[in-house]
Amino acid sequence: MTDNIDDIDAELDEIENGTGTNKDIIHNPPPEPFKNPLPENSIGHIAAAVTGLKIGREENIINGVIHPNERDRVQVGDYVRVPYYIPDKNKEDSDIDVTVQLLASIESLMYNTELEDQRYTTADNFGSEQYQYFANLNPISLIKLKDDWQTEIEPFDGDFVSTPPRPTVRMDKVVENEFLRCGLDVPREGIYVGDMSVNRNRVPDSNDPLEYYLFNPTTDTDYSGEPSIFRHVLVAGSTGTGKTHTSKNILRQFAQRSKYKIDVPHGDPASGNRQERKRALNVTIIDPEEEYAEMGQDPENMSRAKELAEARSGLEYGKIGDGDVDFKIFAPTTGDSRTQELKTKGSEVIDFGIPFEIVSQYPELMMPNDPHGPTRQLILETIRSYFRHIGQGNESDARYEEFVNWFDTEYMVELAQGSQYNESIINAAARRLKRGEYYDVFDKSQSLLDEKMVKDMFEPGKVSVITTGHLTGGSEQLVIQAIASHIVENKISSDVKFPQIKGTPLVLALDEAHEYVNEPETTRERFIVNKFRRAARRGRKDKFGLYFISQNPEDIDGEARNQFNTKIYLQLDRRVVESPDVYVPREYKNQLPQFDKGQMVVTQPDVNPVELMGLDTCLTRHSK
Ligand SMILES: Nc1ncnc2c1ncn2[C@@H]1O[C@H](COP(=O)(O)OP(=O)(O)O)[C@@H](O)[C@H]1O
Ligand SMILES: [Mg+2]
Repeated sequence: MTDNIDDIDAELDEIENGTGTNKDIIHNPPPEPFKNPLPENSIGHIAAAVTGLKIGREENIINGVIHPNERDRVQVGDYVRVPYYIPDKNKEDSDIDVTVQLLASIESLMYNTELEDQRYTTADNFGSEQYQYFANLNPISLIKLKDDWQTEIEPFDGDFVSTPPRPTVRMDKVVENEFLRCGLDVPREGIYVGDMSVNRNRVPDSNDPLEYYLFNPTTDTDYSGEPSIFRHVLVAGSTGTGKTHTSKNILRQFAQRSKYKIDVPHGDPASGNRQERKRALNVTIIDPEEEYAEMGQDPENMSRAKELAEARSGLEYGKIGDGDVDFKIFAPTTGDSRTQELKTKGSEVIDFGIPFEIVSQYPELMMPNDPHGPTRQLILETIRSYFRHIGQGNESDARYEEFVNWFDTEYMVELAQGSQYNESIINAAARRLKRGEYYDVFDKSQSLLDEKMVKDMFEPGKVSVITTGHLTGGSEQLVIQAIASHIVENKISSDVKFPQIKGTPLVLALDEAHEYVNEPETTRERFIVNKFRRAARRGRKDKFGLYFISQNPEDIDGEARNQFNTKIYLQLDRRVVESPDVYVPREYKNQLPQFDKGQMVVTQPDVNPVELMGLDTCLTRHSK
């Protein structure tokens, strides 16, 4: 139904806007960089003498001489273009056809002082004009004007740099978005992250910067491929540098009804006989600090958010839940806390409890330490016996307090009457099965995380925030670990209890991720981390995107972290930048520790690493 409506809408648009007719010539005159490929007032020219000029398999040497009057206009990181052409004595430069240009970035700027320093020079008579000023260029790609550029939406092709530019040709700064976009392979549309920048200045034109997107083909787009989110996104930055602000802005963009193709899991009652279906995304956010719960509210500065959004193409802004994407806050209830303590007002809050039942599936949750040998075995046996005692099919009747009761009475007798376990092991197991946090966490709400709750939480086209801002310590840890294992298990296993989770494209965002998916030390941690490792590997197949946020990316489990193909780095301490566990693109290593708020380096699959500036205002509420 909706698909038909979409089609009709699209047709109407075409008729009203007159697209679809007379689309023979799009570009005439030629695109900007090729209209004036040999710029008159360029920043400089390619040097040949002194340094050489080389494109090689292993090494490239390209240096430009910056003209004396242009020296203030260039800085390290700037994007420049260099036309490839053959001079023709019989032609004016402006009449020469240039169809190929190099896109490069300035790697370093230096004075050549070798010759001049032999003369007598002091600070008084120093004039930097006397020295040649060189720009060392890092070649990025060759940009070719397509033969049929006049009728193509994308007039350029990007290619590998296989030949050097000619000595003495003029070079200039890149001033056109499409040229830069093509050269760096920046997706044309998708999930907006920020504006391209060089040393905080938006480029190529600060009034009309190139917008940077995460690649996100959906069933609504006319191109296909792997959405970057399903190869996982890591946002890292020191505390207070804007991880949450930036993430809210990014996650806000995922709150759309676009659909992805996904396999229909076995046993899904809604499946019919189909193997595959199209479904809208569910975004589930685990929110330890009660910050994302605010995304159901408009930003403090709505007019600024509106202004920023409207200056860019198709940005979503304002509270989630107004349009066709639902927004709900889920708050786990424990014995010690009440969801009334949440500070987020004005959004619907559903409270729910963690059922002891899930321990039958995940007994490792009851092993926050590392019980050894027989104790571990007895814990597992006890849990199994209890669920046998409850009876198959009645698992949902399991309650932690009854379990303890049963253990202390019936099971103790059974164990005492004859078992392989001696008293000290039985006592050790008993101690480990009775912890304050278990009493606090399990079964503490009228509505447990059951099938109905799962349906609501993981509904397609919904943003669900599971906030634990009202919880603390061991209880919070257990709640988050229980929920996370539950989501991941139901997403990646083949025979799952809740096919709704498996059969819905899902983004799971986790702030403070290093606290939950760290190098595992205990049984419970190993169990959870293993799940995340598998999930990270299977993301593309299962349409499961992990979005991790952390100020200690080096503490995230390495095997999981290696599967994160998109990285967004805000300012990071030098210690982290230099950690062998954190991959930072070489060209940004020095700068990253000095980044300003909103400044970031972003890499995603098949796109050159680039610097971006994020929006100075949060598109939803961010009261921190
Ligand atoms: N690009 C930006 N421009 C202006 N202010 C920002 C920007 N990014 C973050 N902030 C502000 O800085 C503060 C800290 O940001 P936050 O996202 O909470 O940091 P983190 O999550 O990294 O600790 C917040 O008040 C936030 O609104
Ligand atoms: Mg934060």
